[in-house]
Amino acid sequence: RVEAAGAAATAGTPGAQTAAAGERQPIRAAVLKAAQLARDAEEHARTKQHVKGKLTARERLDLLLDTGSFEEIGRFSGGSINGGVAGAAVITGFGRIYGRTVAVYAQDFSVRGGSLGAAEGRKICRLMDEALALGVPVIALIDSGGARIQEGVAALTEYGHIFRRTCQASGFVPQVSLILGPCAGGAVYCPALTDLIVMTRENSNMFVTGPDVIKAATGETISMDDLGGGHVHATTSGVAHYLGEDESDAIDYVRTVLAYLPANASGPLPHYDYMATRADHEVAKRLAGIVPANERQPYDVTDVIRCIVDYGEFVQVHELFAPSAVVGFACMDGNPVGIVANQPAVLAGSLDVDASEKVARFVRLCDAFNLPVITLVDTPGYKPGAEQEHAGIIRRGAKVIYAYASAQVPLITVILRKAFGGAYIVMGSKSIGADLNFAWPSSQIAVLGATGAANILHRRDLQKAKDQGKDVEAERARYAAEYERTTVNANLSMEMGEVDAMIDPEQTRETLLHGLATLRTKQRRRVTGRHHANPPL
Ligand code: HXC
Repeated sequence: RVEAAGAAATAGTPGAQTAAAGERQPIRAAVLKAAQLARDAEEHARTKQHVKGKLTARERLDLLLDTGSFEEIGRFSGGSINGGVAGAAVITGFGRIYGRTVAVYAQDFSVRGGSLGAAEGRKICRLMDEALALGVPVIALIDSGGARIQEGVAALTEYGHIFRRTCQASGFVPQVSLILGPCAGGAVYCPALTDLIVMTRENSNMFVTGPDVIKAATGETISMDDLGGGHVHATTSGVAHYLGEDESDAIDYVRTVLAYLPANASGPLPHYDYMATRADHEVAKRLAGIVPANERQPYDVTDVIRCIVDYGEFVQVHELFAPSAVVGFACMDGNPVGIVANQPAVLAGSLDVDASEKVARFVRLCDAFNLPVITLVDTPGYKPGAEQEHAGIIRRGAKVIYAYASAQVPLITVILRKAFGGAYIVMGSKSIGADLNFAWPSSQIAVLGATGAANILHRRDLQKAKDQGKDVEAERARYAAEYERTTVNANLSMEMGEVDAMIDPEQTRETLLHGLATLRTKQRRRVTGRHHANPPL
């Protein structure tokens, strides 16, 4: 743009050019100087970043945004054109992703380690204010040494300003953070407050205290990657929602996820054309063969999801974290939805502390941005064990309940197979607030599985059988079969109206599409008389 402005300065009528040529010379010189400064800065950035296997902030913006759509704000803000300083350590502006406007800031590690001082803080805050006024998503590209050490408290307060704005924007505009370099100390809370964090396998680190401080404080030796690399955060801590193979993969994921979200909570959801084909029928028929009748046999629930959603396209969130639950985005007849499912291939699909938080946070995200939630249930319950109790399964499991019970978007649930105990109730049951519940014919809905129930209900009978020298296992199996026949099925739930209908697996997509169409006009209810709720955060 600077170069374009330089070219424009030479245009106009020949006469006017001659008359004003003298006056224009200094302007032209200043423009050319700024342009040269910008070119040199980028050359310097390339030298610094490429050697580390990283892209420059501007190269990242080129990958993130639709070609030629970036409008930079305050290019030289925080710099000194005559002093030869090209600008601050952050680039801010607006651009488009698949044609829709987003606000973006990219920290530039080649300028003072991407550190954040007063100039950078002001630029970011101004961008966020404008993004809120426009109602557009905010994307942060993080690559920074944190608070600029030389600026002391002036740098720290800028983080406070950014935190506050991020909280104000939360649930109004989507906020996404890409961690493409270091992100250390209290600075980690900038991304932590956003909706989604995307990291990369290499060069991406997040930690509150680094390896050196840990070594000094506790004597523990640990590498940057083992402490807070992309893999650790995507698999163990759950801080990262996606692990990119490289920067371009990470950036691509952000573009894809944003395609499922509205620009803001008051705006319409995007809609895509969907053309039903004969293949849909074939795909629907496959559903009946995926879930094994034997309730102990695992299967991959993503195979079920792919047979239900448009074109089999399912974009997972937190794919590597808490894998006994699966969450992600898809489209139904061109309309974005959130999908939540138990994953019987891992821990039999039980809900543990991490899976609970994964599900709860995703349902909240969908509810904030008006995406209907489809829940597919096949779970034996909350995961048992002292380790889970001590890790806070009560406190953290409550988050799932809170998320579903307070969600106001359309909620449709399909029970695929097992739905036992508390986990049945919390995973989008009607009693907790879902609009529609359906069950496949093989569904088992009960307080306990048949063997567990037989053990409790017939403890004395089994003891007696043992005393009498009978075959205890055969007795147990008989009691379990009896319980299964009389109690473990969807009939009672249907009679109570807790399940609306038993559906053939093949009809699942069609049933969901009808349900979504019926619920399209669902209204939000506002609870008055309180400042805010007090969720189990
Ligand atoms: C000022 C910084 C800086 C910082 C890096 N630089 N971090 N300048 N303030 N916080 C500068 C370096 O001096 C260097 O300048 C250039 O950036 C590149 O840094 P290198 O160290 O050469 O890069 P590298 O080897 O890749 O190491 C990256 C790094 C390291 C691991 C991030 O720079 C580092 O440890 N920085 C300090 C991190 C830190 O303690 N930050 C404060 C966190 S607390 P030259 O001129 O030599 O090129 C925080 C509080 C937030 O952020 C509060 C929120 C509430």
